[in-house]
Amino acid sequence: MASPSNAILVTGGAGYIGSHTCKALAAQGYLPVAFDNLSTGHADFLKWGPSVQGDIVDFRALSDTLRRFNISAVIHFAALALVGDSMKRPEDYYRTNVTGTLNVLEAMRQAGVKNLVFSSSCATYGAPDQVPITEDTLQRPINPYGSSKLMCERIAFDFARTHDLSVSLLRYFNASGADADAEIGEDHGNETHLIPRAILSALGRIDDFEVFGNDYPTPDGTAVRDYIHVTDLATAHIAALKALQGGANSEAFNVGSGEGHSVLDVLKAIEGASGRSFAAVKGPRRAGDPPELVADATKIKQHLGFTPQHSDLNNVITSAWKWHNKRHGNA
Ligand SMILES: NC(=O)c1ccc[n+]([C@@H]2O[C@H](COP(=O)([O-])OP(=O)(O)OC[C@H]3O[C@@H](n4cnc5c(N)ncnc54)[C@H](O)[C@@H]3O)[C@@H](O)[C@H]2O)c1
Repeated sequence: MASPSNAILVTGGAGYIGSHTCKALAAQGYLPVAFDNLSTGHADFLKWGPSVQGDIVDFRALSDTLRRFNISAVIHFAALALVGDSMKRPEDYYRTNVTGTLNVLEAMRQAGVKNLVFSSSCATYGAPDQVPITEDTLQRPINPYGSSKLMCERIAFDFARTHDLSVSLLRYFNASGADADAEIGEDHGNETHLIPRAILSALGRIDDFEVFGNDYPTPDGTAVRDYIHVTDLATAHIAALKALQGGANSEAFNVGSGEGHSVLDVLKAIEGASGRSFAAVKGPRRAGDPPELVADATKIKQHLGFTPQHSDLNNVITSAWKWHNKRHGNA
């Protein structure tokens, strides 16, 4: 087992990206301590270290956990993270995401924990005028989820400047794919993300799969996104953590593949991987969906030496397909 000083608090460690990061941390000799209220996470994803069932809105529970496990750094994933849902209940998004992040930072300050890696999002950019999106692109979120993440970024930078903390803010594009061993994967319950929804449709698990919009100003008319494999995301977190531990300054980084794929590209790849074809109903555009979101991923390469290794679309789809088959017993 890793020494206590290698203990990293992973809020949201039972979730999709958090669990993959716990696995990667354990493989590198860290002790991931998951802190999760299991609201959207899974108890069976908690396999790589101790875990605490708690809520980030509960300041005392966070403080106690930092001290009890002699935590040396925090990777903070726990959040409410669905754009459409945030339009219906913004109060919950601000409470969990903003108050929760303030609690994490304040608990760290009081416990003397200096380094934080934070899950931010390309949703902080809103619908940018230009792609690819650099870190200097104006942040103009268009929904409460994106706004809550931008507020967290500003709070984190203010804590860093004022309280001798160092923060690495990772703005992910579309997290996708699954662990190569198919031990863990993407399972958001009431699934709204394109790849798992399309796979569930191909598996016959849902019958209301829709393509939202085919009249965007993109090559095939469907929305274009940047899919970053979850294993690459986990690697990026560890690179950011190590840089902070080595004395790096507080920075924000895009984490994307730098490649854009349309909805139709994704569906074609799923048909290829599954050998099944499925009829996708074409629906109207979904409110608040920008036509194209693609990262300029130069900065993270230059500062952290990070380049994605697993984010080829076919690998993303094949790994996700394998995991969904295992999870849903439909191989
Ligand atoms: N999935 C994506 O494409 C994507 C893109 C950009 C940013 N992000 C961010 O990455 C992070 C993780 O996203 P994910 O896709 O793994 O989602 P997820 O829902 O699988 O994981 C979130 C985890 O946080 C836990 N959680 C939620 N509220 C909590 C609370 N109040 N206290 C303690 N635990 C709580 C959940 O139980 C879950 O395990 C989030 O911060 C999200 O905003 C995700």
